[in-house]
Amino acid sequence: MQAAIANNERVINEKMTASKFSGIGKKLIFIGLTGLFACAPALYLPTSEIAGKHSKGLDDLNHGRQIYIDHCGSCHHLYQPGQYTEQVWSMHVNEMQSRAKISNEQKQLILDYILSGK
Ligand code: HEC
Repeated sequence: MQAAIANNERVINEKMTASKFSGIGKKLIFIGLTGLFACAPALYLPTSEIAGKHSKGLDDLNHGRQIYIDHCGSCHHLYQPGQYTEQVWSMHVNEMQSRAKISNEQKQLILDYILSGK
């Protein structure tokens, strides 16, 4: 009888520990996901002011942004405009053209978007 009670207590204790852990697990997953999003800074959104300053069309800059997101983010994260100089950017985008399977026109739109964000 004594043993049965002790056994029961152990079962209850184990259950409580298990549920506590799954609660912590959920919290950790949540913190992990929040961190993931926080670590990926958003790509800038073109405005008519930015377009005017760089003598580009606002629609073209938005188009370039979309092509960049659609074609350049499948193998690595999307690099920020400020990460490279103009020369290094055009070198990288030229190198990546065949990988991303984009036309010359699409490449130019991406470059216009990126360089206008510097
Ligand atoms: C099929 C996969 C793939 C696609 C699509 C792709 N890349 Fe890359 N990219 C890579 C790999 C792999 C590297 C690193 C090795 C290298 O430089 O060859 C890289 C490197 C880079 C780098 C240089 C990072 C550094 O500091 O050395 C930049 C910038 C870059 N890619 C931009 C782009 C842009 C812009 C596009 C879209 C036009 C693009 N990538 C599409 C695979 C890809």
